[in-house]
Amino acid sequence: MARVKIVHLSDIHVSRQYFSDELGEKVIRQVNQMEPSCVVLSGDLTDDGYYPEYVEAKSYIDRIEAENKVIVPGNHDSRNAGDKLFDELFSTRYPVCTLDDVKIVGVDSSEPDLDDGHIGRIAYPFIKENLSGEDFKILVLHHHLIPVPDTGRERNIPVDAGDVLKLISELRVDLVLCGHKHVPWLWVLNGIVFLYAGTATTLRIKAHIEQSYNYIELEPGRELTIYRVSSATGQKKLVYKIQL
Ligand SMILES: [Fe+2]
Ligand SMILES: [Fe+2]
Repeated sequence: MARVKIVHLSDIHVSRQYFSDELGEKVIRQVNQMEPSCVVLSGDLTDDGYYPEYVEAKSYIDRIEAENKVIVPGNHDSRNAGDKLFDELFSTRYPVCTLDDVKIVGVDSSEPDLDDGHIGRIAYPFIKENLSGEDFKILVLHHHLIPVPDTGRERNIPVDAGDVLKLISELRVDLVLCGHKHVPWLWVLNGIVFLYAGTATTLRIKAHIEQSYNYIELEPGRELTIYRVSSATGQKKLVYKIQL
């Protein structure tokens, strides 16, 4: 495995009301300096799924320099028929990216106008087909499959989370990247690392949890290292390291 660098952004919420231009510019500068192999954006690109927000979100994302981008919609993007705009601007809600022996697969866990997550049985064969090999396997979706602490009372967890957890355990997926709660967190369950990104750029934060994103390195010999990066300062903090 060659060294693979992945930036995991989430919940940028491009809108007039909550998007921080200052943080947005900092994040673009920081990410472009990292020269990532792939940038993952796990949903909530917009605030309400309206066309002008989508156009602004697209031009923001276009300024991020990475050969590969894996982008899935969040519940906010699927409001007001925004799911149709997502297809128009980002071509697919089920992206697949292969980098050497790393496979990254995205699924749409949103439903039009609902905040609850739902992957849906129709997507299971797609997940199976694309994450059955011997690669280092990464699944990307917007909603959290396991509850996240410090986020109030539980809601919006995918209604089929149990079945999806069983499926990805059977497939021996290595890493799951999510967002939605705007709180960074990490769980390990059945050998799978579940990594949640906070919001990178929006003022929609919980209490004093600052804006951040994840930086992931995969080294030859299957060493996985995860850092949390502060959007305001660009400082990286080691979160997790494991030899897989
Ligand atoms: Fe969000
Ligand atoms: Fe969300």
